[in-house]
Amino acid sequence: MLPYLEATKSLYAAAAAAPDDQLCCVSSPPWRMPDLVIPDILFAMNYGCGTTVHPRDVPDSGAVLYIGVGGGLELLQFASLARRPGGVIGVDSVPEMIAACERNLALARTVNPWLTEDAIDVRQGDALALPVADGAIGLVAQNCLFNIFREAELDRALAEVFRVLRPGGALSLSDPVTPRPIPAHLRDDDRLRAQCLSGAIPLGAYLARLVRAGFGTIEVRARRPYRLLDRARYGLDAHLLLESVEVVAYKHPIPTDGPCIFTGRTAIYFGDTPTLDDGKGHLLRRDVPLPVCDKTAAALLRLGRPDLLVTDSTWHYDGGGCC
Ligand SMILES: C[S@@+](CC[C@H](N)C(=O)[O-])C[C@H]1O[C@@H](n2cnc3c(N)ncnc32)[C@H](O)[C@@H]1O
Repeated sequence: MLPYLEATKSLYAAAAAAPDDQLCCVSSPPWRMPDLVIPDILFAMNYGCGTTVHPRDVPDSGAVLYIGVGGGLELLQFASLARRPGGVIGVDSVPEMIAACERNLALARTVNPWLTEDAIDVRQGDALALPVADGAIGLVAQNCLFNIFREAELDRALAEVFRVLRPGGALSLSDPVTPRPIPAHLRDDDRLRAQCLSGAIPLGAYLARLVRAGFGTIEVRARRPYRLLDRARYGLDAHLLLESVEVVAYKHPIPTDGPCIFTGRTAIYFGDTPTLDDGKGHLLRRDVPLPVCDKTAAALLRLGRPDLLVTDSTWHYDGGGCC
């Protein structure tokens, strides 16, 4: 096994034995849901950097596959939404983490009568070789794991996700990204990488890798400050503010004119006629904001119309858009 992957395993074996509140950094409050009681230990072992759990993404049928289970917080939240036998499968490569997660879920069962033993299936396995059949999954989620992987392993992990997803299925991810490439002395530090502090790549590079893996529609749903790598402590020329992003990528075919990437851009037509038809399938109603993908935003701007405004990215896309 590659040394940095070994280092990652050791770090999470230790984090399974004793909750580490310095590990990762949650900058948004975890979902609380009706009729769901979350024992404190699951919050203490929240090693994510955002959330991957959104009610509208949970498939009506087919399982949710969660890669890198941690203390089980998001497994429990997904199970609360899915509420069916086999609704959630968790995979983790660290036996100590699986044991801790199973203990935590057993505790959760004592305070959530609806949570049956068969609601969550936790399996030993690796993100780089998922123990799941091709096309079996409706939604894959991973929170703060793929950023640890180096380029070859990241591509491998994304290819595995793509393989297990059924057509139309989605990957929901939360991961750190960096505004500029992280210097080699930090990138090559296996411990910092395992701590989700130095493996991040720029958002544009991450989105490009998702497209390369075959995902045709991508939504950037949230982007917020994650951790500061300060100049003095990390031996940098200038401070480096890492952000965490929440992205959902769909196994849709990639259109011939390029992927549909939504980053929170919106078009507003305010001309003299009730509608504006761009001739490419977009009908803009006067004064009604239309969320558009980056490709369409660029095409609309190329029209050069004085009665059409296209906003910059908000990085908080929330659906309703048109590619
Ligand atoms: C940063 S923690 C995130 C845990 C969880 N997703 C959360 O949000 O709390 C990374 C998780 O991935 C697991 N892990 C590390 N390497 C892995 C691999 N190659 N395949 C699957 N899981 C892995 C660790 O054991 C740990 O549970």
